[in-house]
Amino acid sequence: MRNIRIRHGRLSAAFAGMFVAVCAHAADAPDQTAELIKRGAYLATASDCVACHTAPGKKPFAGGLPISTPVGTIYSTNITPSMDSGIGRYTEEDFSRALRLGIRRDGANLYPAMPYTSYARLTDVDTQALYAYFMHEVKPVDEPGPTTSLPFPMNIRASMKGWNLLFLDPKPYAPDPQQSVEWNRGAYLVQGPAHCSTCHTARGFLMQEDMSRELGGAQVGPWYAPNITSDTVSGIGNWTKEELAQYLHTGRVQGKAQAAGSMGEAVEHSFQYLDMADIDAIATYVKSVPAIRDSADAGTRFTAGKISSELSTLRGADGIQTVGEANPSGAELFQGSCASCHSAHGEGSKDGYFPSLFHNSATGARDPNNLIAAILYGVDRKTSAGQAFMPGFGGKPTDAMQLTNRDIALLGNYVLKQYGRADATITEEDVAEIRSGGPSSNLIALARGGMAAGAVVVVLIVIFFVVRRRKRRAA
Ligand code: HEC
Ligand code: HEC
Ligand code: HEC
Repeated sequence: MRNIRIRHGRLSAAFAGMFVAVCAHAADAPDQTAELIKRGAYLATASDCVACHTAPGKKPFAGGLPISTPVGTIYSTNITPSMDSGIGRYTEEDFSRALRLGIRRDGANLYPAMPYTSYARLTDVDTQALYAYFMHEVKPVDEPGPTTSLPFPMNIRASMKGWNLLFLDPKPYAPDPQQSVEWNRGAYLVQGPAHCSTCHTARGFLMQEDMSRELGGAQVGPWYAPNITSDTVSGIGNWTKEELAQYLHTGRVQGKAQAAGSMGEAVEHSFQYLDMADIDAIATYVKSVPAIRDSADAGTRFTAGKISSELSTLRGADGIQTVGEANPSGAELFQGSCASCHSAHGEGSKDGYFPSLFHNSATGARDPNNLIAAILYGVDRKTSAGQAFMPGFGGKPTDAMQLTNRDIALLGNYVLKQYGRADATITEEDVAEIRSGGPSSNLIALARGGMAAGAVVVVLIVIFFVVRRRKRRAA
């Protein structure tokens, strides 16, 4: 749903700054308020509010980030405590309604691009803490952002009322007494603030998260958020709890997976800052999510492929000039663009900084979109474990590194056949789709139908009440 490009270093620094500010503030504020603000700062990080509410190069939380959805572009709003441009006039109750029920201070409905269906799980005290943090610690920015104007019928915000009736569960998280304290903490974080299902759960006809397929995998913009249920074949049932914790904390597990795209951003801005106890709790809960098996999967995506190379069949092996050549083969493209880091045999570097391309979920998945996205957009993730950087090859046509859709299809198929899931294939059209931001076009009609259905529901409800009132008056 979201398509976010943010300057990473600046934001990490901003976060560090915020934590320092919170600590400094603790000295002069009464203990209780300081505690509440600190808790709010932590929750804001766990919820990754900054990721959506900050536009590239702009001040944190000042909004204006365009979020591309299948029904058009929705801009996040300014949530700094500015009186005129932000949420300075929001009372705690207004704030709670926006966050958990998707209703703005002026009574208008928010679009679910703001993940209020997840934040609805937040407890009262956590909502109060977030409010305290935004009001006391976030600097007001008096800059109004761009306004969202979607095409009809989605411009009727009231149509979301119908949608909410169907899909918003407004109750905060209720602990399951059959489960441990750790499990419940994990379930709360996953379903609420960390909103994993916003990306990892497929959406139904009306763009709602389909909870019968909880964490079963979904396409989010150009990247695919894989099945992370406990299934041992299609999911991550074979990962240890420690591996999952390490992935969330650093964005990588050698010989299994690495986090790029929106997951890389979530790790960088949010998950890496969580207490290890919370990371462990998340891992405990995720490991327990009911298994979802895709019958097309024979083996896991982490064990596909092996070390291999066809490069010896190429002329002279090293130093072949391929990019720009008339008709390079997949092997030649690999040699020219990838082998310098991932090695000629695809095994990566000894220290694991450059990952192996076999035993890698991006090449072993049935859906090769993450391989395409990695080639187009690269990887850029900063955590306390250092920076993971791979250049993208999807730059402008004038860029020397640019690979065409045809090149990427050839190269991707070579990588799949040599190192990954051999029965997966990539077409030029697949690459074109990921280059344009991910599959959406067919969804537009669908989503329009969906929102229109929401509008119809509203109309029906209004008619119902009007008719009832008339009847009463008539009686
Ligand atoms: C996935 C992206 C995303 C995340 C994460 C997110 N928001 Fe939002 N938020 C939005 C968008 C988009 C809007 C505007 C929606 C609209 O115009 O209907 C919005 C609107 C709001 C509003 C309404 C403000 C107004 O008057 O216009 C508030 C308050 C808010 N968000 C608070 C938060 C807080 C607090 C967090 C973190 C706990 C958060 N948001 C996380 C996308 C996000
Ligand atoms: C903003 C969207 C988003 C959110 C939120 C998100 N993920 Fe992800 N996740 C992704 C994407 C996209 C990938 C694929 C990344 C890649 O391969 O480079 C991914 C990959 C993963 C993987 C690796 C799976 C594999 O087979 O490679 C795990 C594990 C994971 N996410 C767990 C989580 C958990 C747990 C949460 C919540 C605490 C979460 N994610 C929240 C988008 C998201
Ligand atoms: C300059 C070095 C470099 C080059 C050149 C390079 N890569 Fe990478 N690649 C990396 C690094 C670093 C990572 C990320 C490691 C991490 O996340 O910890 C990575 C990650 C990947 C991933 C996993 C992405 C994910 O989302 O899980 C794939 C697939 C990949 N590279 C394929 C390729 C292909 C194909 C090429 C040639 C077009 C290529 N790489 C060129 C350094 C490079």
